[in-house]
Amino acid sequence: MHAIDLDGLFREAQHAAGFAYAPYSRFRVGAALLAEDGTVYTGCNVENRSFGLTLCAERSALVQGVSKGSCSFIAIAIAALDSMKPVGPCGACRQVLSEFMSSEALVRFGGSGPDRVDTTIGTLYPYDSLHDQFSRV
Ligand code: THU
Repeated sequence: MHAIDLDGLFREAQHAAGFAYAPYSRFRVGAALLAEDGTVYTGCNVENRSFGLTLCAERSALVQGVSKGSCSFIAIAIAALDSMKPVGPCGACRQVLSEFMSSEALVRFGGSGPDRVDTTIGTLYPYDSLHDQFSRV
């Protein structure tokens, strides 16, 4: 297997963040999700005037991929345009990503500054019994 191009994936996440619908927080986030077959699915945060209905960029990318027939992803990059520092996925996104990504799957997140965090789903969402007990279909 080829090495995963996290730099390229992060650039796709930055581009996707430009489509964010974030009039309430003014905080634009993009995500780029790499499927096992090499396809990249992107997403951005989509806010709502009923604030709790806001969809994060990570879950937005995930539903794009699953809706196109992918259900296993090996890496995700997340770009927060309006933060200098890296911003990691929220708890809900960690849970939802873990449904479709193994604990070894790579996660890169960054802001508009130079810092990047490279980690894994298992580090962000440890002790996830689902991975031990079920295989995905
Ligand atoms: N947001 C994301 O889309 N992903 C993250 O990882 C962090 C937060 C969005 C949700 C909301 O639209 C805005 O950023 C502020 O929290």
